[in-house]
Amino acid sequence: MRFDVITILPNILESFSQESLIARAQKKKIIFFNVHNLRKWTKDRHKTVDDRPYGGGAGMVLMVPPIMKAVESVKLKMIPPNPLLQKRGDKVSRVILFSAKGKRFTQSDARRLSKYKQLIMICGRYEGVDERVARHIADEEISIGDYVLFGGEVPAMVMTEAVTRLLPNAVGKIESVEQESHKKIGYIEHPHYTRPEEIKIKGKVRRVPKVLLSGNHNEIEKWRKRKSKFKS
Ligand code: ADE
Repeated sequence: MRFDVITILPNILESFSQESLIARAQKKKIIFFNVHNLRKWTKDRHKTVDDRPYGGGAGMVLMVPPIMKAVESVKLKMIPPNPLLQKRGDKVSRVILFSAKGKRFTQSDARRLSKYKQLIMICGRYEGVDERVARHIADEEISIGDYVLFGGEVPAMVMTEAVTRLLPNAVGKIESVEQESHKKIGYIEHPHYTRPEEIKIKGKVRRVPKVLLSGNHNEIEKWRKRKSKFKS
């Protein structure tokens, strides 16, 4: 699967893409993660991407033209050798605009979006983005939660992680088995404990639940089931 992030702050995403499981998924060619500087699609000397809002008011607004050119330029062009061979309903590209007023991102969106060949993510910044991007360029306007961030870069990382871990072989064996059995419902695992068996925290001794030390696998399984949650 291919991710294309369009941003005016590409550095924020660089270290993210070079660490841990996201880096490994790229090495294994499970994902291709590309970061694009929006200023690349400007023509003027100052590489202008924003302008003052019509109607007046404070702040600047990201303009349509660079964003439109960027999306057109990174979008996968699927020209199958024989169009009849392309399966009906094959999902190719999805263009996402991140904004605080978008629809809330959920686990079921992550699952749905993981079926596309390419996700193009537009990161909003400043006071806003020309509304015509949301209406006519993006397929979806998404918010990662009911709070306002500086821009869409952190949401792009959130979505990339949530989608990547659902792709076959992106996570380790144990986890993928776990995913398999809970495919239809978002599954939040039971709490985990490791050594030491007891430890003083803020003056109080905190112990690992007894059942986990019992060696009784039946009881442990029951406890784990009781303590796990489902998220749809
Ligand atoms: N941009 C600013 N706030 C945001 C949020 N909560 N989700 C997505 N994009 C945003």
